[in-house]
Amino acid sequence: MLRLMCAMTMVLAAEAAHGLDNNWTVMVTGMKDGNGCMKATSVEDMGSNLVTSTPTCLSATQMCTDDYECTTARALKPTSFTGCTFDESTAAATSAVGLLMDGLCYNNFVVEQKNFNGAPGLAPDKVHVRSEAHLHTRACLVVSYCAKTGFYLVTRPSSSADYAFEAQMDSASAEKVFDFLIEARHPCGTTTTTTGQTVSSGANAPALASLASAMSFVALH
Ligand SMILES: *[C@@H]1O[C@H](CO)[C@@H](O)[C@H](O)[C@H]1NC(C)=O
Repeated sequence: MLRLMCAMTMVLAAEAAHGLDNNWTVMVTGMKDGNGCMKATSVEDMGSNLVTSTPTCLSATQMCTDDYECTTARALKPTSFTGCTFDESTAAATSAVGLLMDGLCYNNFVVEQKNFNGAPGLAPDKVHVRSEAHLHTRACLVVSYCAKTGFYLVTRPSSSADYAFEAQMDSASAEKVFDFLIEARHPCGTTTTTTGQTVSSGANAPALASLASAMSFVALH
């Protein structure tokens, strides 16, 4: 008689993190022109929170607590958003997948390595976004001085490569992204908590290396 025992252990950390949620991997569906400028019809959440030990809050968003009020957060919406100029003549229907990055952090810390937050390339949430765009927090994406600079999608060809340009939103699409970020994973009027995968934090540390997941199969006669 063969007894097969199969044990699977997944270690998943649950953490109240709304506002500090990260891994804003989205699928933007719409039109994209020859320069990578997008006119979005929808923004879909493809990511889930990667729990880090030291997320840095930006209190100006009023989104650093788990039960933040969507209406209060939305009231801080910028009156206008920077966006690219969409060229109809070179546009084609597409869906683009990438990580959301606000224009300020894209220009200063993905393209350049400005030393404004303690070390070269650190965004205000202390994330080295050129190598760890997936750890960039919601609070940092929506704080008004970042959100008003619009939104980009960044991607990387492999988990050890740097993130770089995939697309930029036109201003109407940037507004859609902002509205998406206020409510995504946090339906207004609820205080649900996000569960997420545990990763180590720290500049340049590949996040998936420490994904806490273990699986074992034991066969017994
Ligand atoms: C972001 O979340 C998705 C969905 O859970 C996951 O497949 C992906 O690996 C995460 N990204 C990173 C860089 O860990």
